[in-house]
Amino acid sequence: MRILHVAAEVYPLVKTGGLADVVAALPAALADRGLDVRLLLPGMPAILNGVSDLQRVIRLGPAFGAAVITLCLGRLPDSGLPAYVIDAPFLYRRDGNPYLGPDGRDWSDNHRRFALLGWIAAHLAGGDLDHDWQPTVVHAHDWHAGLAPTYVAQNPALNTATVFTIHNLAFRGLFPLDHHTDLGLLISGADQSALEFHGQLSFMKSALVHAKRVNAVSPTYAREICTREFGWGLDGLLRGRGSDLSGILNGVDYSIWDPTSDPALPRAYSSDNLSGKTVCKLQLQAEMGFTVDAKVPLFAVVSRLTSQKGMDLLLAVLPTLLAEGGQLVVIGSGDADVEAGFRAAAAEHGDAVSVYLGYDDALSHRIIAAADVLLVPSRFEPCGLTQLYALRYGTLPLVRRIGGLADTVVAISAETLRRGTANGFAFDDASRRALAACIGEACAVFREPAVWHQVQQYGMAQDFSWADSAARYEALYRSI
Ligand code: ADP
Ligand code: GLC
Repeated sequence: MRILHVAAEVYPLVKTGGLADVVAALPAALADRGLDVRLLLPGMPAILNGVSDLQRVIRLGPAFGAAVITLCLGRLPDSGLPAYVIDAPFLYRRDGNPYLGPDGRDWSDNHRRFALLGWIAAHLAGGDLDHDWQPTVVHAHDWHAGLAPTYVAQNPALNTATVFTIHNLAFRGLFPLDHHTDLGLLISGADQSALEFHGQLSFMKSALVHAKRVNAVSPTYAREICTREFGWGLDGLLRGRGSDLSGILNGVDYSIWDPTSDPALPRAYSSDNLSGKTVCKLQLQAEMGFTVDAKVPLFAVVSRLTSQKGMDLLLAVLPTLLAEGGQLVVIGSGDADVEAGFRAAAAEHGDAVSVYLGYDDALSHRIIAAADVLLVPSRFEPCGLTQLYALRYGTLPLVRRIGGLADTVVAISAETLRRGTANGFAFDDASRRALAACIGEACAVFREPAVWHQVQQYGMAQDFSWADSAARYEALYRSI
């Protein structure tokens, strides 16, 4: 079975979030199962530079506003998997964030930039671009690749199976409706209702209609998006897909997230000997200008700083965290007001709050290793990966009980401790009060080292590797 993964980002070349981690690790896990897997990526500078041995497959164009489009094939770093790269300089040769210009706004031609990704996927499926390789399944990720199932469906000669994975329904890929004329899409009758979302064009909606199977990145999120609260106006459509919609939990690439061999850490450690974790903590405390003391609970955030992630709630309960004697280190970037809030908190409480506004992969590893508690108080969370990374590093996740967080974190209680299934802390309401109470609870448990140690040990031993989830994806492919 030949599988083509279509996505806009891939770790470590271009990454704005967990999507990149998944797009690097899932195809590799599928290849390990013996499937013939390739990726299709847009030729952003970092991708053109990072994919090795790029060879031209075919030259096309003009199309989608680009005079010249060259489809190349090379190999990804790390996994060595074959990856098609679309080199369309006019559309993709732009540095920085793949979706936003330097002014922080979406590129005005994003509809063309990402429609091209889907269009090339459909033509690879059609066999007219690479005679040597045709996918049996086109697997598209998030709205950026959302038109892949659409272009496949609009070609009556194709019966390629399509799978669409929802990583985040909040980003619906919305554009003015008249932009469809740029995209060569049929838009009348049923085709129009598939593409149109309240007077706009939606790449996400089109994917949800056209893909043979749709899945979300955790079972709980797959159920939540069928409700008004989490459905972003697409819940009716998702309910209508019935058993075509499923939830498959993301996994972790433990070759990258492993405290016994992580090159970013000042000292490696394992669950048998956590002294290296203490070294990581003391070093980070010193580096951040905090009181250097293993007995002080160190909380961390590694996240986009947006309202999705509940960061405004965290800012509001910061006084509680500090009153409990805690310290907070934050790495992330996002909404200007949230960034400003954290900057102000760090200025006011320099000895206990430190904020790095930006992206730094190595620092994110060091922070996850050093912290006692990783905070993920999200308003919604399709899966969430950092809580899984934290678990392997002996860092207890403190999460809101929704989406993938609910599927992976079991809150400490008398019962879960007795059963030995507790691995962190969880609260239900997206309210300051609930978050503050949960932080207070974490501080109380932190003062009981034996309990803390038991929970750490269980979390570190848990297996969230891709093996299980890759098997589920394979079963999904085979079912269609
Ligand atoms: P989302 O995709 O919604 O942002 P996830 O938890 O799925 O959330 O994935 C976030 C990914 O981005 C993780 O790999 C996390 O370690 C990483 N990350 C987030 N912020 C930063 C940052 N500022 N620097 C480095 N890595 C970051
Ligand atoms: C999205 C979601 C996140 C998920 C990631 C990878 O960015 O916000 O919860 O873990 O995709 O699937």
